[in-house]
Amino acid sequence: MDYQIAPSILSADFAKLGAEVDDVLASGADIVHFDVMDNHYVPNLTIGPLVCEALRKHGVTAPIDVHLMVKPVDRIIPDFIKAGATYITFHPEASEHIDRTIGLIKEGGCKAGLVFNPATPLDVLEYTLPKLDMVLLMSVNPGFGGQKFIPHVLDKARKVRKMIDDGKFECRLEIDGGVGPANIKQVAEAGIDTFVAGSAVFSKRNGNDKNRYNSIISELRAELSKAKR
Ligand code: DX5
Ligand code: ZN
Repeated sequence: MDYQIAPSILSADFAKLGAEVDDVLASGADIVHFDVMDNHYVPNLTIGPLVCEALRKHGVTAPIDVHLMVKPVDRIIPDFIKAGATYITFHPEASEHIDRTIGLIKEGGCKAGLVFNPATPLDVLEYTLPKLDMVLLMSVNPGFGGQKFIPHVLDKARKVRKMIDDGKFECRLEIDGGVGPANIKQVAEAGIDTFVAGSAVFSKRNGNDKNRYNSIISELRAELSKAKR
């Protein structure tokens, strides 16, 4: 299984963001998870396209997974396309025209994903899954790092995994919120292949070297290697 680890830079040191991203990638992470919050769709305010562009200019070449927690979404999408996003994911509740928003992302050359909050049903996947590159399941209510994993999302993961496999779709299945070494194996066994981890990664520095996150990333991979699928 091609498991990918996506540290959420929400928990990084924003005063040293370029170095934090370089170091977490040098430590073995696969994807940069980039949380965009607008103090409207979610009760918090974070970073926007200028910061994404700055990371690209700084030299980051890894995929950047832009998780939009903003409403409305369409106005800001072209800015993230220009800023070098790889994936752009949005919450269906935040778009008036879901199919149009997916089209906007894909026409701009980015990969598109839908994000489901813990209590949001999966019904819109019926008519969107063939077009999606990513389904992101929230295992906390969006807005903050460091919250507790909500276990019923594992049932949802099993359902979406079956939909992706049955349709033979090329779509990653990502989880976001409360993931760490204690539960990542169980999460993988429910069918997830892409794992966001914010506080679990950035709270575990070992030293000040470029690879100062390698012990936590290795610990997550060691747990993943035990997962039975
Ligand atoms: C929450 C964000 C997450 C957050 C996860 O709204 O979407 O990406 O950073 O943080 P942890 O891994 O600490 O739960
Ligand atoms: Zn996120």
